[in-house]
Amino acid sequence: MDGNGRWAEKRGLLRIQGHRQGARGLRSIVQVCGSRGVEILTLYAFSLENWSRPSAEISLLMKLLKIYLKRERLQLMKDNVKILAIGDLERLPLFVREELLKSMEATQNNTGLKLQLALSYSGRNEIVRAVKKIMAKPSIRWDQLDETLLERNLDTGNQIPPDLVIRTSGEFRVSNFMIWQSAYSEFYFSEKLWPDFDEAELNAAIDSYQRRERRFGGLMEEKMERSRR
Ligand code: FPP
Repeated sequence: MDGNGRWAEKRGLLRIQGHRQGARGLRSIVQVCGSRGVEILTLYAFSLENWSRPSAEISLLMKLLKIYLKRERLQLMKDNVKILAIGDLERLPLFVREELLKSMEATQNNTGLKLQLALSYSGRNEIVRAVKKIMAKPSIRWDQLDETLLERNLDTGNQIPPDLVIRTSGEFRVSNFMIWQSAYSEFYFSEKLWPDFDEAELNAAIDSYQRRERRFGGLMEEKMERSRR
């Protein structure tokens, strides 16, 4: 959800007002994902690197997170959304962890869209934590380590990897987001700053994804058929 700060600065507002505006637009984005049949929407809301921001911005962002989780709980229930979280969650302040836990518990039986918040998250850190989890199990020998075992120990566990990764604000970087899981993901780079990223832009991203041909390093059925002839 990149570009909140620039959105605010362009208007002579405080950066936190950009974050607030970014949070306001979330409800409709979540609803469009639900109605278009998206299984999991992961929002990169706070990276591990974001901890190096000025403490005033961090503290306002944490408060904003708590407010969002509390205020949206009823709406998320109505929309049948299940809240999940990935990242180094221990580092979050207790008041955010408590609110997160309440949302996860309240929505655990919902069967619609899974809304996964990446908080205090970085892909490299997730991989290191996964390796540590494996190394802590005395029953596992080094030669049993393979991609499946590592993948299962990532925060995303048995989830399907993301089909589409959307990066906003005109930046062409991955910024440590799901670096393992996105090995074969499709990417969509949007010029829009996150607070301007609306339903129309989300639909454009999904439509663009649906027009793509995914080969996962192999060949499409049709081409394989042709090469067999
Ligand atoms: C990146 O923009 C955005 C963030 C670090 C915070 C995103 C958080 C929210 C939208 C609100 C809270 C989250 C939820 C899930 C309710 P930036 O500050 O890096 O923008 P810039 O690159 O323009 O400076």
